[in-house]
Order: sequence, then structure tokens, then C-alpha cells
Amino acid sequence: MIDQRALPRVESWVELHTAEEVAQAIRNMIVRGAPAIGIAAAYGVALAATSALGAPRAEFDRRLEDAYQVLGGARPTAVNLGWAIARMRRAAETARRAGAADVALAALLEAEARLIETEDLAACRAIGRHGAELVPRQATLLTHCNAGGLATAGYGTALGVVRAAVEQGKRVRVLADETRPVLQGSRLTAWELVRDGIDTTLIADSMAGAAMRAGEVDLVVVGADRIARNGDTANKIGTYSLAVLARAHGIPFYVAAPTSTIDRECADGAGIPIEERDPREITEFDGTRLAPEGVHVRNPAFDVTPAALIDAIVTERGVARPPFGPSLAAFLAP
Ligand code: MRU
Repeated sequence: MIDQRALPRVESWVELHTAEEVAQAIRNMIVRGAPAIGIAAAYGVALAATSALGAPRAEFDRRLEDAYQVLGGARPTAVNLGWAIARMRRAAETARRAGAADVALAALLEAEARLIETEDLAACRAIGRHGAELVPRQATLLTHCNAGGLATAGYGTALGVVRAAVEQGKRVRVLADETRPVLQGSRLTAWELVRDGIDTTLIADSMAGAAMRAGEVDLVVVGADRIARNGDTANKIGTYSLAVLARAHGIPFYVAAPTSTIDRECADGAGIPIEERDPREITEFDGTRLAPEGVHVRNPAFDVTPAALIDAIVTERGVARPPFGPSLAAFLAP
């Protein structure tokens, strides 16, 4: 996989061989973005199965179980991770019940991981098509973090909406929040959009309100890490502030995410676990300490935007509108 930490300075690729290595890559954000970490975890399970071939049956199954655990615990907020692992586990257990031998099981898990990846790409394209309908013929979209090709199997969710609108001939301009503290906006979103030749302006997160007040933003589109049944949405820290600002300025605020990001087990945002990351992401810049020693630091990686501030949730199955309880439930029906 591409090392997202090194972008845009260098395009370097890392080769991972074990579930533990994949879990580590998810933890330290070599790969990041909710759908992408789900896909990576699925391949991690497939790697665990392949590397356990030749071991006794009990040992093979134990190594698979270890893989589910280590990958599932890599990051807490994006539900796509648990969703992908649950899907891999289901595939393995169904095959076992049908009498599959280890070799067949390993092949099946690799195929399932590929399917998860292919389906995510298709979902992103469908999200793009549905979301583009919300974009006026000429528009400036503001986005936060990176919900692009890097964060998914390709094409992106929020950036999928941008790409589809551009492909439809709409005149689209993007304001990309730099997204403190890890700078997914300036490093990744700007890199993706500039490569695609899409008119992109990078702003500091704190400029969003002034840009809205100046009439420079027509709509906000962001991705999601976990959407509760009622539509409350966890996404990169700073998303909630944007939603409040958008409401204050009468600007539509949209979330774009595949249905794999909806957590059926979670009634509302209060049940979403928020990852606290290393304080050095805040106190240091590029390895240089900026803040004084001894200062307390908070570094939650995500916040929750209440459903009441969200105008629509764009999924691969269509655009859900408030009240999100019933509209999302309809998209989750088989
Ligand atoms: O900490 P990150 O970079 O993994 O956070 C990513 C986000 O918050 C994205 O907006 C979200 O995962 C959607 S990606 C399509």
C-alpha cells in the first residue's frame, strides 16, 4: 500500500506480510480513512490465513482469531474496520461449516477481501453520482480531512461527489481545510485534487467561518467514520464546528459515506467511541517540539456532528434526508 504519511513529498509503497503489520499500518496511519482501513483489515485477515497454511487445524483457526482481534483493535472510531472483520469472520465460519479445508478457506478469504475492495469502489462511484445531484452547476464546495481515493478503494466519498460533479461538466471549486493536526487536507486532499486538475484552494481550518460569511462556500461535503442509526455522525475533529458554521450561514451540510459506515448497533452519537491520539501530534510539528513541556494536551481524532445539523447523508443506495432514523433504515434493509 501507499504510505500516506509520506505524501505528498514522496510516493513510497510499503509491503505488508502479516496481520500484525497491517494492524500497525492502520494504527500509525500508513493507511487511513474509514473504508480504506476496513479494506486493509480484510486483506490482513486474508494474509493471516495464507501464512497459517500448513499449521495444524486448531493452530490455523487460532491465528485467524488472533488476526480478527489485532486488526479489530487497531483504531476504535471507524466502524468500517469492525464491519469488514465481521464480514471476513462470517465468510470463514460459513465455509468451515460447509467443510472447507484450510487451503480453500484461505483462497475464499482472499476473494472476500477483493470483493470488499471492489464493492467499495462501486459504492464510491454511486455515492458520487447521487451526491453530484446536490451540487449546483457552478459551486464552491468546502471539505474537511481526506475522504478521497486514498481513504477508500478509490474515487472517494466526499471527493467522489466532487469528481462526479466535475465529470458531469459542473464548474466546481473546492476549498480544502488543511485539517489539523495530521493535515490530511493539505497533504492528501489537495494532492488528489490537484493531480485531477480540479480547482482547489487550501485554507487553514480557522478560515472556514470567514469564507462562509464572505459568501465563498455553497455547500459543505465531508466523509464519515461512523454514523449512528439516528444520523449522528463521527468524522475528523473539526467537522462539528463546520456543521455549526454551515447552519449559522444557511449553507447545506452533507455527509457522504457508504452504508458500511452506518453502525446498526449504535442508536446515537453518544455510543460512538472517540479515538484519543498521541499528544505529540499537537505539541510537535514534523518532529520539532513547539509547545512547552508540562502543558496538558487533548487530541481527540474525531468529533460527533448531531443529525440535526446534517441536511443529507449520501450513500451508495441514495440520498437519505431527515429524519434519518427511517431514511437510513430503508438503506440498510437487505
Ligand atoms: O484519522 P483519519 O485520517 O483516518 O480520519 C479520516 C476521516 O475522518 C475521514 O473523513 C473518514 O474516514 C471518511 S474517509 C472516506
